[in-house]
Amino acid sequence: MASGRLAIAATATLLGLLGSVACSASQGESITSKDAAPSGALGSAPPRAAGTIGAPGIGDPDFPTDGNGGYDVDRYRLKLAYDPAAKHLSGVVGIEARAIQDLSRFNLDLRGLEVDRITVDGRPARFERVKDELIVAPAELIRGRSGFTVEVAYAGEPKPVTGSSNLGTYGFIPTADGAFVTAEPNGAKTWFPSNDHPADKALYDFEITVPAGLNVLANGELVGEPKTSGGKTTFVWRESHPMASYLATITMGRFELRQGKTAAGIPNLAAVDPRYRDALDTLYTQSGQITDYWSTVFGPYPFSSTGGVIDDFTAGYALENQTRPMYGGFNPDEGIIAHELAHQWFGDSLSIRRWKDLWLNEGFATYAEWLWSEHKGDSTAERIFRGHYAAGPSAAIWRYPPGRAKPEDLFNNSVYTRGGMTLHALRQRIGDPVFFKLLKTWTAEHKYGNVTTEEFVALAEKLSGKQLDSLFEAWLFTAGKPTEW
Ligand code: ARG
Ligand code: ZN
Repeated sequence: MASGRLAIAATATLLGLLGSVACSASQGESITSKDAAPSGALGSAPPRAAGTIGAPGIGDPDFPTDGNGGYDVDRYRLKLAYDPAAKHLSGVVGIEARAIQDLSRFNLDLRGLEVDRITVDGRPARFERVKDELIVAPAELIRGRSGFTVEVAYAGEPKPVTGSSNLGTYGFIPTADGAFVTAEPNGAKTWFPSNDHPADKALYDFEITVPAGLNVLANGELVGEPKTSGGKTTFVWRESHPMASYLATITMGRFELRQGKTAAGIPNLAAVDPRYRDALDTLYTQSGQITDYWSTVFGPYPFSSTGGVIDDFTAGYALENQTRPMYGGFNPDEGIIAHELAHQWFGDSLSIRRWKDLWLNEGFATYAEWLWSEHKGDSTAERIFRGHYAAGPSAAIWRYPPGRAKPEDLFNNSVYTRGGMTLHALRQRIGDPVFFKLLKTWTAEHKYGNVTTEEFVALAEKLSGKQLDSLFEAWLFTAGKPTEW
């Protein structure tokens, strides 16, 4: 603590001598404190050079302040402790990033919580908060293309995003015994400073400490055995495949676990709040069977483990958290399990670059439900498609073209159902062999990457040798019931 204060004071003096800080330099150790950086303090400081300020958004036209520009995160190291009784989260997040331009200043996304200290490459940085933007001014200009490391020490009571739209409650959601952490579309910022947009995927290391007796379920694999001392247990998890920020989780609480491998050998972990004890075996078995089946249809499973988690928060939805799908307060049926596991390919391995393309996640996962039904010998995708197509021309589903998901109503049923119907219309048009080859080629070519609708259309045309503009125009982009395509 003491040496930290000294280091900060020294840096402040140096900055003052260089004349590159407009104010506060004489405040010594308090320069990095929130109180010493009133709103606008950084804003009024002259930039060190033109064009060195990272944009406050990553460039998604529908979510202009989500994510940030000027850098790309390689890895997050989250070292956090949570006390459910006090609802208190505290710790340090390390961010390894690469600058894609010179940076005198850049943003992170963070909602609520108190920031204590930020360093960039080990040197104290100034910062200020403006709404959900955390603006960081490193002591020294970061050169474009160079790697840099940010450390943010912070604490407070994390609160989910709630009530503002049709998106429901999401982010860090406290439960009776821990927290249910499901953050689509932009709730990572409710619990850690991040570049909170799926266009910037990164690797994750988690070191999470909770009261002994509780479990922590994060993404990827547990590293070593959890260690307990002084009434607290620390869990180390690592996700070693690129992951979108909304898929990161540290769901905590009491859980009953079942662990093993699928028939094809993929590690499988099912975890349920004790209230859902009776659902554990079915969740485990079905998640394993479905993961193995999707691996034959969509291509090799992209991650290190599969499974599912049922917690006791009534979210009214499930989320496809990478390797660890979460079901919020209900016992999922096979259809939803098939949906969330299909997202491991469509959404998680292949992530959208902008939210308007959400049908690439939800239309595909919905169509996967129909494929699962067909595989099981229940209704066929064709029959399910026809059932939906029977809706009259004034039905709500035709009003909303699914190819441009709207920010205030992202998860509209059209994005799911009419998105799925789009794939069936495509399958009818190009035939089963090309359609299923297309699904596998799509997942292989963009594994762990980011995708757009244009890229999918181009690949479908290339593999089928057909002009598909009118089909996608009618199904994805035109309001009203498609009648010819
Ligand atoms: N992607 C999830 C699913 O397909 C839905 C997430 C809904 N998120 C929300 N904030 N309402 O099941
Ligand atoms: Zn979905």
